[in-house]
Amino acid sequence: MPEIDGHTQLVGVMGWPVEHSLSPPMHNAAFAALGLNWCYMPFPVWPGKVEAAVQGLVALGFRGANVTVPHKQAVMSPLDNVASNAQALGAVNTIVIDRAGDANGPTGSAVTLAGYNTDDVGFIEALVRGGFVFNGRANGGHTAVVVGAGGAARAVVFGLLKAGVARVTVLNRTLERAKALVKALYPFAQTSASLRALPLVPETLIESSRAADLLVNATSVGMWPHVDASIWPNGVALPAHLHVFDLVYNPLETKLLRQVREAGAHAIDGLEMLVRQGGIAFALWTGQEPPLDVMRTACAQRLKP
Ligand code: ATR
Repeated sequence: MPEIDGHTQLVGVMGWPVEHSLSPPMHNAAFAALGLNWCYMPFPVWPGKVEAAVQGLVALGFRGANVTVPHKQAVMSPLDNVASNAQALGAVNTIVIDRAGDANGPTGSAVTLAGYNTDDVGFIEALVRGGFVFNGRANGGHTAVVVGAGGAARAVVFGLLKAGVARVTVLNRTLERAKALVKALYPFAQTSASLRALPLVPETLIESSRAADLLVNATSVGMWPHVDASIWPNGVALPAHLHVFDLVYNPLETKLLRQVREAGAHAIDGLEMLVRQGGIAFALWTGQEPPLDVMRTACAQRLKP
């Protein structure tokens, strides 16, 4: 890490809890690799204190921040501009603080706060790097199954619809949440038949996966310490033609991905989405190309295999 001095540019992540975040080592490794005098810190921000924390960032001269659970929605109100995808997702995970007029002193109007969401594009970049080939409208377009209906699932479904995927089925344990997700993202679907919500039970998962080319786990099922859990039922062969993307990255090799490999299907782990969404934020703050290899290594060194 470069020596912190009077020129150091500050960014960080606001969340609750935030102590397990991999973003500080990932971004600090990237700054060091490019010789940038920047520093990234974790900030545990209490629920209800996010607006005060944003004002603190402005007052302290920060250049921006990441925002994570549970603040991605609440952080939107103090911002001046919110990118259209972040508006559609109802969530901001990156703030850029434009301090162009700062030299004039604390006028208030000198500083502009812009909100972005880097999760949807980060997911699509990771999917492509993981070997999924978008074939345009050939064969009638792609069919995807997304399991989960939280913020991560919302970003995934939005990214897939924007990428032109023809049909997305959202499965969730709580059907009402899947229906709410589908309702919110209907405006981005190609047709009314493009997006549907179903309850997550073995039958719907197996049936819809057979007809799909992509299955995404956007739930926390399989995450440490529940490493023996999987959304895919035991004893049922997973379709070998499927690409399966597990957003869980702790551990990297989830039970689901073991089932995928045993079936000879194509497995994509969650590390790359973490790296890609971070890379987009890095570029927004610094204007520089993110050193993705350095960022990937910094995260992988800290993850369970
Ligand atoms: P995030 O914003 O990170 O996506 P979240 O909003 O807490 O997190 O969503 C977690 C997702 O994992 C939800 O879809 C949740 O299902 P419910 O909506 O029914 O709660 C899903 N999930 C968590 N534990 C689960 C379990 N044991 N079985 C099935 N789904 C589970």
